[in-house]
Order: sequence, then structure tokens, then C-alpha cells
Amino acid sequence: MKSSALLAALALALAACGGGDGSKPAADASVDAYVPPALTTKFPDTFLWGTATASYQVEKGLTNTDWHQWEVKGKVLDGDKDGMNDRAEDGPDFQAHYADDLDRAKSLGNNAYRMEISLARLFPTRAQFPNNPDPTVLAYYHAVLKACKDRQIQPLVTLFHWALPTWLHDLDDPTKAGWEAADMANTFAAYARWAGREFGAEVDLWITINEPLVYVTTGWLSANAPPGKFLQVDAALDVGWNLIEGHARAYDALHQADIMDADGDGKPALVSIASHNRVFVPETSDPQDKRAAELLQRLSNRMFLDAVVKGDEDKNFNGSLDDPGDKKADPMLKNRLDYIGLNYYGNSTVRYIGNENSFPIIGLPKTENLDTPYAKTENNWDVYPHGLRDVLDELKPYALPIIITENGIADRDDDMRPRYIVEHLYEVQRAIADGIDVRGYMYWSLMDNFEWSAGYCPRFGLYHVDFTKPDRPRTEGAGARTYRQIIAAKDVSPELFRTLPAYPIQDYSVSCPHLSPF
Ligand code: BGC
Repeated sequence: MKSSALLAALALALAACGGGDGSKPAADASVDAYVPPALTTKFPDTFLWGTATASYQVEKGLTNTDWHQWEVKGKVLDGDKDGMNDRAEDGPDFQAHYADDLDRAKSLGNNAYRMEISLARLFPTRAQFPNNPDPTVLAYYHAVLKACKDRQIQPLVTLFHWALPTWLHDLDDPTKAGWEAADMANTFAAYARWAGREFGAEVDLWITINEPLVYVTTGWLSANAPPGKFLQVDAALDVGWNLIEGHARAYDALHQADIMDADGDGKPALVSIASHNRVFVPETSDPQDKRAAELLQRLSNRMFLDAVVKGDEDKNFNGSLDDPGDKKADPMLKNRLDYIGLNYYGNSTVRYIGNENSFPIIGLPKTENLDTPYAKTENNWDVYPHGLRDVLDELKPYALPIIITENGIADRDDDMRPRYIVEHLYEVQRAIADGIDVRGYMYWSLMDNFEWSAGYCPRFGLYHVDFTKPDRPRTEGAGARTYRQIIAAKDVSPELFRTLPAYPIQDYSVSCPHLSPF
């Protein structure tokens, strides 16, 4: 399989995760309400319990970004069932509500919170970058971090969660090419250096880039996110390597600049990425399906990590290191990860279709068109909790601590979320019991928020937001109560499983449309 076919296949696989097209008949989602054995090892006292958010998805006013341009171009689906506009501007307005939101997080028993500090908000113009941030915005982020500290909530801070200012990435100006531009890695490192100096006394856990591979595939291969390019494989490869380079230089910059011990543990700050890892399940035992699934899994889950942990550069992402230009153990990339930030949502079923040229056209692993026996979420993703254990096992060779930086379910009725949380946290607890060094879990997300190109259709929040009311009231859902119970007990017990009904059968005719960014 050539690199282009492999990347295209991955794009389609990831795009397929975006939900159903409404045409699939209701599958048998009557997953048995199984009850696993009790675990003797509980979650450790030091475990980080939290939730995750990103600036563009919860803050208003980011209208100077490529994502806002994308919205204005009509690329975000009006899929919301409340009949409101699906605009980020209409979101949960975290700026106005952060103190109450963090109180809610605290009420869950949380001691961690993942958030982004937005480059676009801090530096609205190029002229300000990197020494003259907007003072009001600077004060706001310091206030949020102080609010975390006041509540003994440890912040995990992301530097780039997908929205760039138009002075870096302008969809109408090819000279502002964002991550396609070779000098973006240096710009990003400058941002990291500035952030490390400015926030080092408040932050000890950094995430440079959210889901680099999803960012590449949705923007340059499946056209579900800005700049909306379809199967532009060469550009996608450039973006991929620029992101890797950007991470490595930002890692160095953060370690140089952040010399403060924010959490008082006597240790330096830790830097990672948030890697979106999936389980690619071959549809059949046919060797072709199996090979396709293996290649996709390697590309999706390990290619970036291999580059920034081992320094191995598979330049054309073809799954081998034997092409001219490939490198092994590059000292400029190697050992640039202190822990692994893992985002896990589920699996993709893989069917190999024909020769490699058919991949880009037909798309081989379209989960929504393959019959799978799993319960389905509101946006038609499979629920696949034991896959979390599989991806944790897959990370063992990197020998790094792991923090689950995202895991969650779109479920506006909250009739699946409690069981989803229980099943996934059981897998985490089981992994810890078996010696895997998992140090934290961030549920995605604290409250309902702007779900990229799928607008407000999928609802991931532990707290439901009424977007039709001016003050965006939040209501605690059943999933929040389950999460609180587990945190208090530091245990996912069989009794807890017994209290939860099996997943309901979903009606696909009302599932969220197929326009999610991955
Ligand atoms: C992204 C989030 C997104 C979530 C649910 C993750 O891939 O990092 O921004 O909201 O998936 O779709």
C-alpha cells in the first residue's frame, strides 16, 4: 500500500467516526448489562480526576480565527435539535461562567481540569506576537488558573486545540498557510516559550498539540475542518511533519522557559501531546482486512509517538523506515514526550476494498455502513470500552506515564453516559491493577459545547447547557452523578454496574449527521 492510499484510507476511517448519515436501520444495540468481577486495586490517591475543554468550543469571541471563517462559509451543519444557530459564538460562554463551572467540577470531586490558552485570543494581531498579549485576555487566563488553584484543581493546559488566528491561517489568503507553512513550527515554539514564562508558575502539565493526526486528516484529507482540503496528500504530509517539528521545538521551549514548580512536587513541568488513538478492528479474518486494520492502527496511534519518543521518521507514512529520507533515532525529535496524553473514543471497523486506488474513492472502513454488534452513541459511534485497555497495552513499549486526556460520549438524554463512564473507568482501573502507569482521566467534556462541524447536535457534557437561554444555564446530568460516585469511592464496583441498565436501542433516524471533524 502506498503512503497516499494509506493516508487517504485513514482519512476516511476517521471521517467515518463522525457519525451516521441517518440511513442505517436501528442495529441490535441490546448490549447485555454485564457485570465484571470486583478489582482489588483501587484508584490511587494521587490519581487526577478531571474533565477537558478547548477554547473555541467553550469561549465566545474567537472570530479572528480560521474556524470562524469556516463557520461563515457555511461549513458547520445546522444540526441542533433546539433550532438554534450552530455557531461557536452561541456556546456555553465559559468566560462568563468559569467560576461556577469550576465549582461544578469541584463538586464532582475533580482535582484536575484540562483547558486551552488560546493563541488567537491572547494575540489577536501579528504585531502583538509574542511579547504584547491582550492584557484583558491575559488577566482572564490568569484568573481561570487562579480559580483552579483556589479549588485545588490542577490545570492541564493545551497550547493548540485546532483554531488558529487568521494572521497565521487565513482561508482566503494562501500566503497565510498555518501549519502548511514551514516556519509554523518556529512560531509555535515562540508561543510555547512565551506561555512557559508567563504561566509556568501556575501550570505543570502541558499539552502542546491536540490530536495532531486528526487535525491533519480532517483539514487536508477528509475536508471536514479548515482549510477543507480533500485528499491533498502531499500537503497533509507537510502538515504532519510540521506538527511533529512544532511539538519538538515547543517541548524544548517549554522546558527552557517553565522553570517554576507550580504544583510543589519538586519536579519540573511535564509536556505531552493529546494523541487520539483508536482500535481498528478488521471486519473479517480475511488477511487483507487484517493488514488494512494494522496499517491504519500504526498510522493513527503510533506514527507521531514513534517520531517524538524514538526519533523515528517515516517520512511518507508508509509504515516502514526504509525509504530515502526516513530517519531512525533523530536527536532533534527523540525523547520529546514526558507522558502520553491519550484521547480515546472507540473503534473503527475496517473492511479492505479492492486495490489501493479504490481506497480514496470508496473508502474502506465506513463504520456506519458496516454492521457492528456494539451499542451506538448519539452520533453513531460504537461504544467499545475494552478498546481502551487495548490502546493502553499498545502504549506500553513507550514506557511513559499516561494521562487519559479525553474520553466521553455524545448522549443528550444521559441514558447511556453513566454506563459508558463506568465501563471505561473499569478498564482504567483494571489497567492500573495490572501495572500500567495511568495517572489521570479527563472526561470530555464538563459541559455541552460546540462540536466543530457538527455544531450543537452531539452533546458530550456532564452538564447540559440550555443554549436557548441568554445565561446558558447548566443542569447536572446522570453521568455527572455516576462520575462523582466513582471518584468518591476510588473504585468501579460490580454493585455500580448492577445499578445501571443496559444501553438503550438508538433510533438512527434521529442520530447526529455525518459532519463531525473526524
Ligand atoms: C476533540 C474534541 C472533540 C471531541 C468529541 C476530540 O477528538 O479533541 O475537540 O470535541 O473529540 O468530538
